[in-house]
Amino acid sequence: MIDFIEKLPKAELHLHIEGTFEPELMFEIAKRNQIEIPFASVKELKKAYQFNCLQDFLDIYYQGAQVLVYEQDFYDLTYAYLKKCAAQNVRHTEIMFDPQTHTERGVSFETVINGISLACQVAKEELEVSSILIMSYLRHLSEEKAFETLQQSIPFKDKITAIGLDSSEKGNPPSKFKNVFEASIKAGFIPLAHAGEEGDADYIWEALDILKVARIDHGNNALQDENLIREIIKRDIALTVCPLSNTALQVVDDLKNHPLKKMMELGLKITVNSDDPAYFGGQVNQNYIAIQKALQLSKKDIYELVKNSFQYSLLDNETKQKYLKELETYVATC
Ligand code: HPA
Ligand code: ZN
Repeated sequence: MIDFIEKLPKAELHLHIEGTFEPELMFEIAKRNQIEIPFASVKELKKAYQFNCLQDFLDIYYQGAQVLVYEQDFYDLTYAYLKKCAAQNVRHTEIMFDPQTHTERGVSFETVINGISLACQVAKEELEVSSILIMSYLRHLSEEKAFETLQQSIPFKDKITAIGLDSSEKGNPPSKFKNVFEASIKAGFIPLAHAGEEGDADYIWEALDILKVARIDHGNNALQDENLIREIIKRDIALTVCPLSNTALQVVDDLKNHPLKKMMELGLKITVNSDDPAYFGGQVNQNYIAIQKALQLSKKDIYELVKNSFQYSLLDNETKQKYLKELETYVATC
């Protein structure tokens, strides 16, 4: 089963590039940029990765990102992740980035986007991993700040496919970003949002009805509301579920109690993703392996999850079909 999972061609649809920042690379970049990290060593830093909730994690995640200053830093961060994609047979990835984490401390939008997108271009050539970029607004900041970010992104529109909404969920409902999502859609971006990770089902309703999202990040709390489940299925919207993130942030107490299988049985379209792999103890393949073991998923279940990862990607139909064919070819040999 592990071999089957590892070799499957797959896509990752929920991944924060700042959450791929491995401590070793963080220390290396901090040193060359002469920035202090408030931890003595990689080991000390890793010891701090104990979270009781989303906010505990976010505090450390934003702190880690502070050492990223130059285009080369964003390039190195992104390329390191894309190499891991290639090694895991991730053929396509949809990468979220948080421009405000950087622009708020004086790094230009241009520096961030150019470093990330150059790494994506090079990886497409050298590693044969394709990628799409999702610009995420930080929901703990104001809608006005999100509008500023939208303005900054316009000259780089050709490099960005979608917008997302992440950071502290509770107290920052999707409705807070109604106007900026409307404007972003008008500008040509596809709307996505985190909803129902810590927030209740009504946050998912708002993401659907007010932000008009094409996909829900997490969405675990959809299970609180039968009408919502029916609506998500009716609209054919996928949920990007992140098993190891959910246990690391205490959204789920134990993987054995993870709702993923129940979600699949209800008819929801589910994908498996790593979210912030440097912080949550596993890349995407480890997420598949862990959830397979915990819930005794069959090869057929795994196949459905992987198929969804291409089917519900933001790729054009022709490229989707190409990857789906590659998947069929692999599965036929198993
Ligand atoms: N939830 C919300 N915001 C985030 C996350 C997450 O899981 N990861 C990075 N930013
Ligand atoms: Zn996330």
